[in-house]
Amino acid sequence: MEIHIVTDAAAGANAVADVFERTVRSAGASGAILGLATGSSPVPAYAELIRRHREEGLSFAGSRAFLLDEYVGLPLGHEQSYHRFIRENFTSSVDIDDAAVLSPDGAADDPAAEAAAYDRRITEAGGIDLQILGIGSNGHIAFNEPGSSLASRTRVIGLTRRTIADNARFFDRAEDVPVRALSQGLGTIREARSIVLTASGEGKAEAVAQLVEGAISARWPATSLQLHPDVTVVIDEAAATRLELADYYRYARFLETENPVVPHS
Ligand code: F6R
Repeated sequence: MEIHIVTDAAAGANAVADVFERTVRSAGASGAILGLATGSSPVPAYAELIRRHREEGLSFAGSRAFLLDEYVGLPLGHEQSYHRFIRENFTSSVDIDDAAVLSPDGAADDPAAEAAAYDRRITEAGGIDLQILGIGSNGHIAFNEPGSSLASRTRVIGLTRRTIADNARFFDRAEDVPVRALSQGLGTIREARSIVLTASGEGKAEAVAQLVEGAISARWPATSLQLHPDVTVVIDEAAATRLELADYYRYARFLETENPVVPHS
């Protein structure tokens, strides 16, 4: 895992956007397959990508996107659906084809069948080149709540009380937060060729410490990313406060970016 501890939100957004830009540019005209997260964490990076699209000509033409998850019971156009969120916060403001931005259908009659079909669609598309992730305060990625199998596939999952409480800020009332979601599984997510996870704030510090330094376990689902060979973690100082090896990560990053001849000076 590569750990970038950044000083502010702008630096974090830039670091994540850089990873996206490299992926999109190296895919060329055929386009990249992007895995997109919702929630507040990736929004600054999406804003930076929109800026690069408008001001620097970064193009998403030909790319396709798969969302991580969707609430069960919310129709596509619902104002809190992830289908709508991603359009409002990213994809409608760049040149990706709207029909190529896919998400599980939260209003499907048979959510379990929809989950399995969605998982197959990702495989049939050739798999995801770059997956962006946030992390829940309880260590979930997508909606893989604690207890999720490390090999899990896209499925219907019940949300924990903590996730419902965390996400209540997006709804008028806590009772309006759906209690189930369709979510890519931990096994599905790990099939992405590369992954960038971003988090900020002290509320994420314990989950980030577990993700980077904890034992791999279903108790902290994000720890399954330790099994992936290409994960970049972009966090602010507040989210880094519980990392035992934070100084080492800063030093390793310094060595990598500055390439000093005398590293101890
Ligand atoms: C969103 C998702 C979730 C969020 C996580 C953090 O698609 O899958 O795992 O990334 O709940 O949410 P925020 O970024 O709002 O703190």
